[in-house]
Amino acid sequence: HRHLLDLERHSAAELMAILRTAQTLKELTNGCREKLSLLSGKTCANLFFENSTRTRNSFSLAAKRLGADTVEFSSAGSSVAKGETFVDTAKTIEAMGVDWVVTRHFTPGTPHLLARELGVSVLNAGDGPHEHPTQGLLDILTILQSRGREDWEDESLDPEQILAGKTVALVGDIAHSRTARSNLWGLRKLGAHVIICGPPTLVSPRWEELGFEVAHRLDDIVERCDVLNLLRIQFERQYTRPFPSVREYAALYAMNGDRMRRAKPEILIMAPGPINRGVEITPEVADGPHSVILEQVTNGIAVRMASLWLLAGASDAAISGAESPAA
Ligand code: CP
Repeated sequence: HRHLLDLERHSAAELMAILRTAQTLKELTNGCREKLSLLSGKTCANLFFENSTRTRNSFSLAAKRLGADTVEFSSAGSSVAKGETFVDTAKTIEAMGVDWVVTRHFTPGTPHLLARELGVSVLNAGDGPHEHPTQGLLDILTILQSRGREDWEDESLDPEQILAGKTVALVGDIAHSRTARSNLWGLRKLGAHVIICGPPTLVSPRWEELGFEVAHRLDDIVERCDVLNLLRIQFERQYTRPFPSVREYAALYAMNGDRMRRAKPEILIMAPGPINRGVEITPEVADGPHSVILEQVTNGIAVRMASLWLLAGASDAAISGAESPAA
């Protein structure tokens, strides 16, 4: 079985195959709103050990838009409270006859563990601060959609140059952000210039050693960016840093009206959500004309449809002709 565990270990060509399939499925479902029967008879299990609004519901809708059934498991209210382990829980759900297991867990590596333990495809919906591959893909799809189709949809284009010339900054709590990690690997593979911007307490020096540009002041980079992806401070991940306070953070890193006036006229403002209004982004920017935050949400369904479809053994080319993927 094939899995989607992280973006670090996928090639640019593989990422582009998922992204082009996502775009095709988005169009075939009239903007992710209508149903197809491509995956009817199959079942997707969502195993969530952490809270979620976007990822969980969009995986669920993605499966249903392609005609599959879903099993919804939350650790809260489950037999985990009676001492059942993570792996036993996953094997129990697998034994109910599912074809994919989507997992979100606070411990890095848990999807990789399930990929070894289960006999079905595993998709990582966020493993602690490690990776959130479908979030990285939906963010990149949103960036691609801001460009002409000829710039990215043609399969003869070099996948490693698709985002050449684009500068994308990931701003904020990099230390705790699985979204940042999936984005930075995916964006770099596709040729973008990636800036990692945040307080020194929340940005490891390792990123500079790995060849990424690191900045500690949004004011130093805002004029050069084509895309800003604004991450929230993850207070729930044991936030005990002496710097910055929320007030200091907002002063140094919030995208606000003043900084917007210094940005490129075509800048894209992105956020994985949930957003903390007034901390990393002000309402005028979050709700303003450059914000694509809700397009990201819709693209989450497209990317998750494509991931389920491709892991079911189907190819992009099969979509137009086949009603169900090859066995
Ligand atoms: N972006 C994201 O993962 O949101 P949820 O935690 O609501 O799924």
